[in-house]
Amino acid sequence: MKEGAATQSVGNQEEIKALFPNTYGMPVVEFVPAESENREAINVGIILSGGQAPGGHNVISGLYDGVKSLNKESKLYGFLMGPGGLVDHKYVEFTDEFIDEYRNTGGFDIIGSGRTKLEKEAQFESGIQILRELGIKALVIIGGDDSNTNACVLAEYYAAKKYGVQVIGCPKTIDGDLKNEQIETSFGFDTACKTYSELIGNIQRDCNSARKYWHFIKVMGRSASHIALECALQTQPNICLVSEEVEAKGQSLDDIVTYIAETVAARAADGNNFGTVVIPEGVIEFIPAIKKLIAQLNDVLALPEAKTISRDEQVDFAKSHLTPENLAVFNSLPTGVARQLALDRDPHGNVQVSLIETEKLLSEMVGKKLEQMKKDGKYVGKFGTQHHFFGYEGRCAAPSNFDADYCYALGTSAAQLIANGKTGYMAIVKNTTAPAEQWIAGGVPITMMMNMEKRAGEMKPVIRKALVELDGAPFKEFAAHRDEWARKTAYVYPGPIQYWGPTEVCDQPTMTLALEQAK
Ligand code: FBP
Repeated sequence: MKEGAATQSVGNQEEIKALFPNTYGMPVVEFVPAESENREAINVGIILSGGQAPGGHNVISGLYDGVKSLNKESKLYGFLMGPGGLVDHKYVEFTDEFIDEYRNTGGFDIIGSGRTKLEKEAQFESGIQILRELGIKALVIIGGDDSNTNACVLAEYYAAKKYGVQVIGCPKTIDGDLKNEQIETSFGFDTACKTYSELIGNIQRDCNSARKYWHFIKVMGRSASHIALECALQTQPNICLVSEEVEAKGQSLDDIVTYIAETVAARAADGNNFGTVVIPEGVIEFIPAIKKLIAQLNDVLALPEAKTISRDEQVDFAKSHLTPENLAVFNSLPTGVARQLALDRDPHGNVQVSLIETEKLLSEMVGKKLEQMKKDGKYVGKFGTQHHFFGYEGRCAAPSNFDADYCYALGTSAAQLIANGKTGYMAIVKNTTAPAEQWIAGGVPITMMMNMEKRAGEMKPVIRKALVELDGAPFKEFAAHRDEWARKTAYVYPGPIQYWGPTEVCDQPTMTLALEQAK
């Protein structure tokens, strides 16, 4: 293992260092051919955490092959249904036959996934009991930013207690928001975007055939708009909203609605009463007035009294604690949207944006705006709508060649980090826009990606989420073309993911990754 220089966290260095005295400042590592081999048998446990992402089964396959190739006596255990499996001691042992059933398949059904947040000492202590019972030397947690933050907290705890158990993370999430200088992309983003782009392309072909509907298509991605942006680059819809831009421009809901309505009117003037609008699911959180409201709601919902009231009382309770300004914004929102913002967060404190029907909210508001524009003589046309939400369709798709290879490589990287005694690291693979033979594997200390952020009313160490950068190459490429795509019908129909055939067709990474790495 080649070690680089000592590292620093991306923000709040002193606080993070104090919170992680045993796992802070470690170097980035890269694997190089070794002169001597470490062939010790090791028992390893693995957890799938959070939302599904294509390729998870290949991380497990890569890890299994990795530890078995070190020593046939090594064992791999899978904890069932997410981090809860570790706490509740529910597990399976993998065998060759078991693993072979799942190679190159989508989904997390091999052991299931869950969103239990690993954060309490009692959970860590319950975990160590089963780890000791099974002789497990290292635990691999496959997850997004929140789960890897927890992996780091666990690594620090076990290191501080000198329990002799290593904890390694693995960058998963279709959302694409777990990336930085060291992590080129999170696994699953490639397949999910290609799957959604196939579906958006199909809709666009239908739309361009029937020429009678505007399709409002919401795509997953939580806060970040990486998925929406990548799908827009792949399919060239008439409109794609980018939440990060909405925030930067300080746009209101009415500004967004006006932009869409004016595009509809411009196309109608050309005789085109059809089109597509791609909407990132988190857009609502980025409208500055709503963002402020959510921040206050998060604090209110974190109050001890909030935990004791029933779900029915929650909305009124939240309203009674809002500032007049935030209450006015709350009351201006359609009831369903407002209610969702005031209801439970997921275990990591996130608003459950997937449950907000932004696609319907926007199309209704655009419809009303167009009626007014018609009265004012600014719009002549028909506005028929269809609504779609693409999320779950892509999270368990069969992994693209990119994700299949990337995930297998991440699994083998995790095995090497373990064999080299590392803890508090995330497995990484770099140079991923080159052919797989030229990929570079290694590990990055998780503390390096951390800063302090407010969660459930308290400042906590968390991995910094990577949102769309407005000065980054993918957004610039989109911005350079969007006016043309809005007016013309410039749709691209990517079709399904291809597995066999020319490499230019089958093995290409996302446009986001290609543009980012080309810089
Ligand atoms: P992760 O962040 O855990 O990878 O999950 C991604 C995601 O698919 C988001 O895009 C979406 O908002 C969320 O999960 C939906 O959560 P759930 O599966 O609990 O409905």
